[in-house]
Amino acid sequence: MSDNLHTIDETPTYAEDTDAFDHHHLWHPYTSLPPAYPNLVIERCDAVYLYTKSGEPLIDGMSSWWACTHGYNHPALNQAISEQLQKMSHVMFGGLTHQPAIDLGKKLLSIVPNGLDAIFYADSGSIAVEVSLKMAMQYQLAKDKPEKNKIATTRSGYYGDTWHAMSICDPVGGMHSIYGNQLPVQLFTDKPIDGFNSEIPESARAQLTEFFETNHTHMAAFIVEPIVQGAGGMRFYSPQYLQLIRQLCSHYDVLMIADEIATGFGRTGKMFACEHAHISPDIMTIGKALTGGYMTFAATLCQRDVADTIAGSPYAALMHGPTFMGNPLACSVAIASLNLVIENDYPARAREIEEYLQAQLAAIKDYPQVADVRTLGAIGVIELNNNVDMPTFQKLLITNRIWVRPFGKLIYIMPPIIMTQAEVTTLCDRLKAVINQYLSISSD
Ligand SMILES: Cc1ncc(COP(=O)(O)O)c(C=O)c1O
Repeated sequence: MSDNLHTIDETPTYAEDTDAFDHHHLWHPYTSLPPAYPNLVIERCDAVYLYTKSGEPLIDGMSSWWACTHGYNHPALNQAISEQLQKMSHVMFGGLTHQPAIDLGKKLLSIVPNGLDAIFYADSGSIAVEVSLKMAMQYQLAKDKPEKNKIATTRSGYYGDTWHAMSICDPVGGMHSIYGNQLPVQLFTDKPIDGFNSEIPESARAQLTEFFETNHTHMAAFIVEPIVQGAGGMRFYSPQYLQLIRQLCSHYDVLMIADEIATGFGRTGKMFACEHAHISPDIMTIGKALTGGYMTFAATLCQRDVADTIAGSPYAALMHGPTFMGNPLACSVAIASLNLVIENDYPARAREIEEYLQAQLAAIKDYPQVADVRTLGAIGVIELNNNVDMPTFQKLLITNRIWVRPFGKLIYIMPPIIMTQAEVTTLCDRLKAVINQYLSISSD
């Protein structure tokens, strides 16, 4: 096994930091078994650094897929979770409740967009999306409109990996296209026009209006990732577009679902990305940074009207109830996480990070192999003309002591919001070194 491992990777430090058992027995996200190149063993993490087996600190450009927004091993989060551990690590939420769930709920309702008033705690982002779809379906059933049973969305979206979440991800370019027509058939309209500052042309308004006009009798809800389309292409779009969706949803009695799982808690420079457009969705999903990346946890929130309509129908109960719903450890660490987000004004910190990222990444825009460089809040995206060769790129990341995880043509960073200007500079300097080395040896 280890011989095999060494043939896969000849870089000495990198090979030492991989594991043969892992390589042959453990599936990792979106990979084959064994994977095309080995996974790196991380022994511990602290602040904005991940430490490999050989003790190398890698500066973190990923916040572990948007979640670890306070960096790692944060004393306040550690304390919250250990104090809760002494009292109760878990208790079923069916028929029982507890203070961490109540306190978290109150805190969430104090910061979410106007009118969101009821909360369903879920176990992961994908499940929160599933719950949002079930809420929408039950709402339409409660209104005696069973024919409104499709979910509409734009192209280029990503909403998770469970069955119905996959059905609303981009059906062609998305990573779930392999499942093709096995998935439930939903309604798709064009992807939003590129650019946070773009004006929405009249033709795009007309096209979207026409889409609603044609399909609204079958639409239970329209789901969007507000302002930032993440895993579907790391695209930013205009608040005007979000406003238009809000208007059309209200006009055609279609519920608007905003998936803030990636964008919530300050990442885009606002507490929630919906705030860029001054709108409130009917249903909203949150996850990822909700617990500062400590536990898998998420939530689906809705307006009082949605909850009341469901409650007032023959299908009064919302038929979902995960075993670990409202887990007290997750709730207690989420409360501590929200305190940090609020007290340290994370949206403002993200806007500062955007300035650093803009300054640092500007020069890359002129490279002939680079199609675009864009930033929004604490998100920086470098889009190449061609797909990144990951085995080569990952080796260069390790030798340059940085952790980033590109996909397709996209090299993107979303550092922990606690990152200082000096650390952002180091992260970007190292990323630029990796890109320069990569482009010098690749055929692009
Ligand atoms: C916008 C969005 N929705 C849903 C999900 C799914 O979340 P999870 O991976 O926790 O299931 C993700 C994950 O990347 C996401 O970015």
